[in-house]
Amino acid sequence: PIKVIYDTDPGIDDAMALLFLEYAPEIDLVGITTVLGNASIDTTTHNALYLKQLFDIAAPVARGAGKPLVVPMVEEPHFVHGRNGLGEVPIPDTLSVKEHELPAHRFIIDMVRKHPHEIVIVAVGRMTNLALALREDPGIAELVKEVVIMGGAFGFYGHSGNVTPVAEANIIGDPHAADEMFAAPWPVVAVGLDVTQECVMTTAYMAELREKGGKAGQFFWDISRFYEDFYRRATGIDGIFVHDSSAVAYLLDPTLFKTRPGPIKVVTEGIAIGQTIQQPTTRSFPPTPWDGLPNQKICIAVDGPRFLDLYFKVI
Ligand code: BDR
Ligand code: CA
Repeated sequence: PIKVIYDTDPGIDDAMALLFLEYAPEIDLVGITTVLGNASIDTTTHNALYLKQLFDIAAPVARGAGKPLVVPMVEEPHFVHGRNGLGEVPIPDTLSVKEHELPAHRFIIDMVRKHPHEIVIVAVGRMTNLALALREDPGIAELVKEVVIMGGAFGFYGHSGNVTPVAEANIIGDPHAADEMFAAPWPVVAVGLDVTQECVMTTAYMAELREKGGKAGQFFWDISRFYEDFYRRATGIDGIFVHDSSAVAYLLDPTLFKTRPGPIKVVTEGIAIGQTIQQPTTRSFPPTPWDGLPNQKICIAVDGPRFLDLYFKVI
């Protein structure tokens, strides 16, 4: 099985993707690292621990960054994931499981050093923990097997940002961290809005999942009511976009996606802050800001129905 560290800000779709990882037989989930994003770091860490307890997940939970590297912290307004980050379903204040003793970025470094060339990092929140790990130990980049992120918007099919016209939430939340992550010499696959907004779990799909998906299906139904309501009001779709689980789907079956290689930069200031831009081909003249950066992949198409089938089967 593939050893995975899941870096996450649960988060409704984060919780769905965690169960996808936990129940996929091809995956050995070796750690969950938390980051700010859909809620504060206290809340996302508490939620990760709650999910660990509720679903008896063996992987440890290590607490990560509570603020972005450079940009000021913007508190999540709670209209997407609810005040408690999990669609306002009741969550106990006291849990029986405890956090790992290491901070997330240290946990990542230790695991990568312990299992060289074996670890895949699936990152579906701000890239802050990844950037902190790289800053402390740049050598890990050569030892990580792959980094699959949910993040970015590259402008295919007219899908642009979901925070500003050009910026996606995970990237604009810490643009400097994302830029450092894309620049590191590890293979990155960006699963962005271009493909995640091509996949919709309809209300009917989620109802069937509730019926046939046991405890996970029921839980998923409960936490997604709030999220679905947000999407109905914000976009008019009947159902929800499948953001974070798309990164897991790429890992399980890359043939679901079409990708394009090229170096990626993130805009870190000004009106386009948080925009992700890939230079599709390497050129030698004139010089560009992408020169010398590693080729990373972005997803530009997805087989939605086949992905939804896979998710259903795994749950
Ligand atoms: C991303 O932002 C968060 O709301 C979701 O969990 C997902 O990771 C989508 O832009
Ligand atoms: Ca997320």
